[in-house]
Amino acid sequence: MAEIPQSVLDDIRRRVDIATLISEHVALKRSGRGFVGLCPFHAEKTPSFHVDPERGMFHCFGCNAGGTAFTFLMRTTGVTFREAVKTLAARAGVVVPETREREGLDRLARANELASELFAAVLQESRLGEPARAYLEGRGISMETAASFRLGFAPAEAWIPKLVARGVTEADLKAVGLASDSRSGRGVYGLFRDRLIFPIQDLGGRVVAFGGREIRPDGRGPKYLNSPESPLYRKGHHLYGMGQAREAVREKGRLLLVEGYLDVIALAQAGIGNVAGVLGTALTVDQLKLARRFSDEVIVCFDGDEAGRRAALRAFPLYVDEVDLWPRAVFLPAGDDPDSLVRREGAAGFEALLDRQVTLLDFWLDDLVAGGGADRSVRAAAKLAELLARTRDPLVRDKLVRGAAGRLGLSEQALLEAARRARPAPGRAPLAQGADARPVPSPSSRPDPRHFSADSELVELLLLDDRLAERVVAEGVLAEIADPETRRLAELVIERRRTSDYFDPSEFLGELPRAMADRVLRRITTAKPEDMHREAEEWLARRAGRRAKAGRRELIARLRQAEQRGDQAAIAATLEELRALQGGEPGGEG
Ligand code: UTP
Ligand code: MN
Repeated sequence: MAEIPQSVLDDIRRRVDIATLISEHVALKRSGRGFVGLCPFHAEKTPSFHVDPERGMFHCFGCNAGGTAFTFLMRTTGVTFREAVKTLAARAGVVVPETREREGLDRLARANELASELFAAVLQESRLGEPARAYLEGRGISMETAASFRLGFAPAEAWIPKLVARGVTEADLKAVGLASDSRSGRGVYGLFRDRLIFPIQDLGGRVVAFGGREIRPDGRGPKYLNSPESPLYRKGHHLYGMGQAREAVREKGRLLLVEGYLDVIALAQAGIGNVAGVLGTALTVDQLKLARRFSDEVIVCFDGDEAGRRAALRAFPLYVDEVDLWPRAVFLPAGDDPDSLVRREGAAGFEALLDRQVTLLDFWLDDLVAGGGADRSVRAAAKLAELLARTRDPLVRDKLVRGAAGRLGLSEQALLEAARRARPAPGRAPLAQGADARPVPSPSSRPDPRHFSADSELVELLLLDDRLAERVVAEGVLAEIADPETRRLAELVIERRRTSDYFDPSEFLGELPRAMADRVLRRITTAKPEDMHREAEEWLARRAGRRAKAGRRELIARLRQAEQRGDQAAIAATLEELRALQGGEPGGEG
């Protein structure tokens, strides 16, 4: 990691007793030098989950999940590597050197925390909270549910001085967006007045922002006010309620995404706790990536009207291109949101809706071919071709082609050919542009796309396979990596493998491009070591093949030159070399 020194990581790992840590999540029994228990990462009835306190590692022989205390915490609580380090450092009494920036962030987080506590106390206990309590009652939200989501009430007055009295500066309040300079020029003005408060928490339970709902029938402001972006909060990067939903997501094996604060809360209260909110924005790629950390099965709730259908269609190409996830969708009855539906029809009614889920791929393809007609199918093929041309992941392309060919009545070959012709010019605008769509990075911004991706695959495999590093060094592969950043990463991993007793790939996650980090994290615990080893061997074989091909091309060029010169000796020698290279097989590259 660039910012946390290796010595500190080692120190933490030495001091944290991994068996104690894991026993807080898994019932462990002594067995030989270590412990065994039921694996928390897959369903099993006989224990195959082993903990080795001496090496500070865990491993499941059932699903091959494995790693260190850091990995364990990341997987069970969904925190980032950095957050896992922080938690375990605190536990071990190790001081992680704090940068000034970090101290600043902690201060802002404290300001939000104190504000959140104050708002909650007003809602739960104060006379001032009476209108908000009545509002919640009218919407069928119990005070227990309110407490579990840490809901609060910001009265019109006096909450700012109260916070200041507790040591929060006006500068902090402005930095987190809770206050701004008042127009009179004296003091600050609070963002929330007479609003029901929904704290937005990150996965570690830290309050990063707030939403505030108008509750007065005659209120004239917008229905919701939300905190602006701040050093703690980037819009489109959080899912409301994700922290609370984790346990239920694990139990049910799927995660439901809805739009509003109150949708999340009403569903959770009805017993459908595996739900998180996208906070009013169009679902972003970052939010989907976050969701994917918790479940491979993500169901997005769309409105039942035409706008909802269009939103789903617009979203699909973005997700395909950027997120290795195939979201499912449900469409609400027209006029309903999840809150109104679950209130009217109860949890069972809502579950019935979930039974009617579709995959977004099918939905998108159905729309493409809807209407029929010859030119319809041509237009659909063109649109699909355009999407294919932008899709980098070969597996995703394959899935698209196979799904679409049948429906369009075209051969897979014809579709791929159309895609090749439709390959977009570098730097063209993205295909789909949702409210929060980020431009799809153009492949041409990379040095040499083909080698680059093969080389970054090498970095990934070096992290995941124990035996590859040695071969890479022996075969001089490092020198063949053109991109300096990729080479540096590969060297770093090899060096770390050589010098450490136990190797934890998760320590490199912060160094990797995001898509790669996501994939590595998933594969750390889900991929089988023998599969990783096979992939590594295949990689080496492909690279060897490429080397041989390059060598052969060079020999053929030399042969041509010799022929032009009429140099019989050189011709014979080159032919000899060529035959040796091809293992005596006749024929060449023309
Ligand atoms: P909704 O209008 O559907 O709100 O907006 P809701 O959560 O169902 O709330 P109720 O039921 O009307 O009380 C969905 C989400 O869009 C964002 C909020 O995150 C809201 O939960 N939103 C909506 C805003 O940010 N600002 C607004 O003015 C409206
Ligand atoms: Mn609503």
